[in-house]
Amino acid sequence: MSNGLKGIKTVRDFELEGKTVFLRLDLNVPMEGGKITDENRIKASLPTIQYCMEKGAKIVMASHLGRPKSKEDKEFSLEPVGKRLQELLSAEVILVEEPDSDATKLLLQALKKGQLILLENVRFEEGETKDSIEFAQKISDYADVYINDAFGASHRAHATIHALPSVMKDKGIGFLIEKEITMLDSLLQNPKRPYLAVMGGSKVSDKIAVIERLMDVVDGFIIGGAMAYTFQKAQGLPVGKSLVENDKLKYAKEMIERIEARNKTILLPVDHIATKGISDTVNAHATKDVGIAEDELGVDIGPQTLRNFSAALKEAGTIFWNGPMGVFENPAFAKGTFGVAKAIAESDATKIVGGGDSAAAADVSGYADKMTHISTGGGASLEYLQGDKLPGLEILRTKVR
Ligand code: 3PG
Repeated sequence: MSNGLKGIKTVRDFELEGKTVFLRLDLNVPMEGGKITDENRIKASLPTIQYCMEKGAKIVMASHLGRPKSKEDKEFSLEPVGKRLQELLSAEVILVEEPDSDATKLLLQALKKGQLILLENVRFEEGETKDSIEFAQKISDYADVYINDAFGASHRAHATIHALPSVMKDKGIGFLIEKEITMLDSLLQNPKRPYLAVMGGSKVSDKIAVIERLMDVVDGFIIGGAMAYTFQKAQGLPVGKSLVENDKLKYAKEMIERIEARNKTILLPVDHIATKGISDTVNAHATKDVGIAEDELGVDIGPQTLRNFSAALKEAGTIFWNGPMGVFENPAFAKGTFGVAKAIAESDATKIVGGGDSAAAADVSGYADKMTHISTGGGASLEYLQGDKLPGLEILRTKVR
């Protein structure tokens, strides 16, 4: 068993026949105009739901969606998610507006086989983000077993993640979390060598904690995206108008020295795609070397950099990828990110993609199915890897003396 799962029960450990199972899922999917634009999190939740159905449980599913300010923010309704779940499960999904009302209890009494309850967005309730025990107690009144399968939200001490299991006796995790923790633990314990961490995205500051944690675990870092410009400036190289975190220059410079002092590698861009403005595709061009002109900014890694990164990735035994190499949302600036996705996909390494932007990039690039694991949690996977305790997991752990 993975270290991170010690003392935590899984859904397999409970007798579910005729029991009411409260399933906390992360169904927080992106939507546009009421349409789901990426249903990965819904699909990743299915195995646990289906298992509970097969075992004859009465199922109450719950999730947050976005960050609504009040119940009136109807665009945050889980209704479209409920409809999609209904299709995917070939079952009737009944949406209940008030999670802590008697409606759920009454419905549960009459619930038939092939029917499941989905509570409306739990963040419509004030008590959710306040980790309210009162709110949790009202739910625990009708639930027998609590299962957390919302990995992406397990770093939040919110009522349906934390307060609720704190007042319940029978509690554990679902298959999605079990897989996430097993995969992330494999990055921390005995990874196949060489182990490369590919870091990108805009800010060094967002990644410092995870870089620190991985510094002694990985054999090398590959750094792209806007965070690379901070490293470049720290080395005294011209970055033009590129995004730079000036208060992190010292950290970046010392980080390079510390990695080299450990005889590890750090690969940084040697050329870039530069242009005059963030959406200026007309003037975009590959720089002839690492320097970026005064009136330009970097928006992607350049072709030589991609070749360098790809060659290193080909030799890797383990790859952790977190963060895009450029502004990949604009197809003109996506070559670096998609090229890295391709190199990772084609390598024989164990390849794990952190959630968030890198998961989206893996998806859009068309290489998602070639990855060993794509985390459903952005913030949660980073917090776990950097060694933080996730409240949603810790509350499920039996203290082992
Ligand atoms: C996510 O999208 O990362 C999770 O669903 C958590 O959402 P939150 O950042 O709004 O808590």
